[in-house]
Amino acid sequence: MTRVFSGIQPSGVPTLGNYLGAIRNWVPLQETHEAIYCVVDLHAITVWQDPKELTRQTREMAAALIACGLDPRRCILFVQSHVRAHAELAWIFNCVARIGWLNRMTQFKDKAGKDREAASAGLYVYPNLMAADIHAYHATKVPVGEDQKQHLELANDIAQKFNHDYGVAFFPTIEPLIQGVAARVMSLRDGTKKMSKSDPSDQSRINLTDDADTIALKIRRAKTDPEPLPDHLAGLEGRPEARNLVGILAAINGTLPENVLREHGGQGFGQFKNTLTEALVAHLTPIAAEMKRLLDDPYALDAALHLGAERARAIAEPIVAKAREIVGFLPAR
Ligand code: TYM
Repeated sequence: MTRVFSGIQPSGVPTLGNYLGAIRNWVPLQETHEAIYCVVDLHAITVWQDPKELTRQTREMAAALIACGLDPRRCILFVQSHVRAHAELAWIFNCVARIGWLNRMTQFKDKAGKDREAASAGLYVYPNLMAADIHAYHATKVPVGEDQKQHLELANDIAQKFNHDYGVAFFPTIEPLIQGVAARVMSLRDGTKKMSKSDPSDQSRINLTDDADTIALKIRRAKTDPEPLPDHLAGLEGRPEARNLVGILAAINGTLPENVLREHGGQGFGQFKNTLTEALVAHLTPIAAEMKRLLDDPYALDAALHLGAERARAIAEPIVAKAREIVGFLPAR
């Protein structure tokens, strides 16, 4: 069975962008593939995380994933730092990837901001760890949002160079699965920026834990333009905020933006925002309730994650042991 791998950082509460762009697409893959999903705490500490908050957010993220439909019996769900093979293979990949490749990563430039010299070295080699996450399982399909595409191309470059330098056909080519109208959900405050759990403004995003009143307020305050909605797609040209809200409703309702416009074209944003709020509240409220229920029993949650880590280790350790042998490390006992 084809192996799927994906990860999410516990650097905040999961957003509607994470949900529509990634998590929701992870759920059906449990039925058709061997699916491995990971809360990537090693990635999270590439920027400062308060230790107590990191622990809390890691559990919260795991609860969110289960509440969204991941079933720890039907997929492997675990925390990255529980499986050492990730860090070990990442080191080997640090020595395979070229500095020139990393210099081209747009996400590093965005996250490091103006003061690149002050960014952590971890943030710089972040994509190498991501490549290790996937290749430690010989996974070949990776469901992600649009923003991860460049990192996955790098993961393929690393695999190719490793195979070439060592004269092996060991790491397979991976295929990104970037799906649907919501592969890139934008900020509610600025339709040209992606919705992000690390944005300083909470008004810029819908969190999966937001209650009905908060969702209503955020949608009411969401930036729009003064024109009514168009009745065809071309009318969204140059209107990033309108395009984003239409895309969100389409994704939530499992339809296409053109169908949303056919139904709501000509409406002002006041009316449209009410419809959108209702759809979001109906969809997200049960998820938040289930998250809360899961977080009330942290022991059961931790136990599920420990079991997931055991299953993950059983796959990753032999693969990384083979990588060590290929590199020529003296066999350990
Ligand atoms: P992270 O934690 O930023 O996001 C998790 C997933 O959510 C998607 N996503 C979005 N999709 C649509 N619109 C948005 N506004 C939006 N924001 C986030 C992301 O594309 C991602 O799929 N580096 C990764 C985590 C990672 C990983 C991996 C992914 C670590 N190792 C191995 C795949 C395979 C990240 O920071 O995701």
